[in-house]
Amino acid sequence: MKKIAVIAVGLCVLCTASLLTLRAQDKANSVKSDPAVDRAKKQAKMLDTLYKTAIVLITENYVTGKESLAAGDAFQALFKSMKDNGFHEVRLLDATGNAYDSDNDPKTEFEKKAVKALLDGKTIYEEIVTEKNQRYLLSATAIPVVMQKCTLCHSNYEGVKGPIGALGLKIPVE
Ligand code: HEC
Repeated sequence: MKKIAVIAVGLCVLCTASLLTLRAQDKANSVKSDPAVDRAKKQAKMLDTLYKTAIVLITENYVTGKESLAAGDAFQALFKSMKDNGFHEVRLLDATGNAYDSDNDPKTEFEKKAVKALLDGKTIYEEIVTEKNQRYLLSATAIPVVMQKCTLCHSNYEGVKGPIGALGLKIPVE
């Protein structure tokens, strides 16, 4: 009787151990992820740095007053060109509830969830979606008030410490 109990316990331990190993392998596989998604993420990181650096440089060096052409305005043409050429989509999103241009209010489910996550302190919010058999990486990062000059036109940014907006990207996973 004792022997059977010992064997049963032994089997149970073995079973649990192998189940756990399988679980760990599953996890490792999903973490190992997909090289195409990794490439899209790398591209997102590069574009995020490029757009944010350019917006700050323009504001720093070319914006002298409220009447200046805002980087945010000029970049709408750049974003359109990228979209029209089939590269990627970019959106400059508001996170304050008081956008300069209401076109920049978070509109899609993703944009709303992303803005909420960034306001809650996340540095990035990402999703992979499939549309017409094509996978896309949706990614959003926070935009803080990087310099006092921002408040020239956005007086509502005065004194805000957290994100006031987000840069949203939609990149094909290829
Ligand atoms: C010269 C005025 C001006 C300055 C300075 C300025 N912006 Fe803007 N900003 C605008 C305008 C105009 C828009 C709307 C652009 C559009 O979508 O047509 C805008 C849009 C935005 C948006 C999208 C949400 C919205 O309100 O429509 C964000 C985020 C933003 N700006 C952040 C910044 C940051 C950060 C700075 C400082 C680096 C800054 N802006 C400096 C004029 C300005």
